[in-house]
Amino acid sequence: MATATAPTAHTSEYQPQDGLLLEVEDLHVEFHTRYGVAKAINGVNFSVRQGECLAILGESGSGKSVTAQAIMGILDMPPAKIPQGSVKYCGHDLLTMPEDRRRKTRGPEISMIFQDALSSLNPTFPVGWQIAEMFREHRGMNKSDAYAQAVRLMERVSIPAAKQRVKAYPHQFSGGMRQRIMIAMAISLDPAVLIADEPTTALDVTVQAQIMSLLQELQQERHMGLILITHDLGVVADVADRIAVMYAGRIVEQADVRDIYAKPAHPYTKGLLDSIPRLDLKGQELSAIGGLPPNLMHIPPGCAFNPRCTMAQDICRRDRPELVEVGPHRKAACHFSEEVLNA
Ligand SMILES: Nc1ncnc2c1ncn2[C@@H]1O[C@H](COP(=O)(O)OP(=O)(O)OP(=O)(O)O)[C@@H](O)[C@H]1O
Ligand code: SF4
Ligand SMILES: [Mg+2]
Repeated sequence: MATATAPTAHTSEYQPQDGLLLEVEDLHVEFHTRYGVAKAINGVNFSVRQGECLAILGESGSGKSVTAQAIMGILDMPPAKIPQGSVKYCGHDLLTMPEDRRRKTRGPEISMIFQDALSSLNPTFPVGWQIAEMFREHRGMNKSDAYAQAVRLMERVSIPAAKQRVKAYPHQFSGGMRQRIMIAMAISLDPAVLIADEPTTALDVTVQAQIMSLLQELQQERHMGLILITHDLGVVADVADRIAVMYAGRIVEQADVRDIYAKPAHPYTKGLLDSIPRLDLKGQELSAIGGLPPNLMHIPPGCAFNPRCTMAQDICRRDRPELVEVGPHRKAACHFSEEVLNA
């Protein structure tokens, strides 16, 4: 059973202003390769507040992980380049911060569970050692205190018999338990912002639901800002407060989760919704969005979604729609969002 424990005391030089933790503004990321320039992120804007969960949703290649890597400051530059934009944490721009200061934000302030989490545990060290190392390295704790913290965290993420298993190796745990260990490591330094990049992809459906509710519990208990990255609208319905839908490196729709489920304002979001099975609509036909996302070296002019959009008109092939307000707390980037909303 989970033991409710207070996070380890952590004093920070960063204080959120009015609860605002993270502000991403006009973020652009390019990859300069021998084949050309891939425009992976093309003007992304969003913010995350304390105690809020923002889900970032989109198909493979839409720029979800690159956005997270830009926030964490872990993009390899080159080939990556950030020609424009800012990533403010408690009002401080991480993109212009000296690297030594920025490094200190990774872990204690903003932490990330990586997309390939199951393979990012080191197979040659016991899991408890790997968690304890966070406390030794960042908090200067001695070995026995750090191990005690590791056990406490393993208990918190509901690893059965944590005390006995603290010295076990990653291969001795199931996929779901290894993901719990990755979560324990990610929250070990009591971060204000947690980014979880596809935290449940490799897991079966029951374990997915358990991991999601663990993340939700931890977020509420610690009042963290949570960014939940996924390509599956179905898994975030109960956890997210808001959803940002990405397509070809831009946010094409942003809204409260309930509003998006009730009525999408963008044809792409509608396509994503139509492609998930719903318990309330038994026997329905599921439809997938036809076509493929664009080559990021040759993004089509106008609306990037136009070659796949059944509503596309001439204006869509000519003018790029801006992300504009289309209702309370909601924005969409579509010339015909009113028609989509009223359909
Ligand atoms: N190091 C790199 N060099 C060149 N292109 C890259 C590099 N890293 C990412 N990209 C490109 O950036 C685009 C966005 O990638 P990203 O990993 O953010 O997608 P994603 O939305 O996370 O997809 P997935 O759901 O598959 O994880 C992709 O087209 C990808 O090929
Ligand atoms: S702007 Fe046009 S092509 Fe783009 S999503 Fe809207 S209707 Fe479709
Ligand atoms: Mg990804």
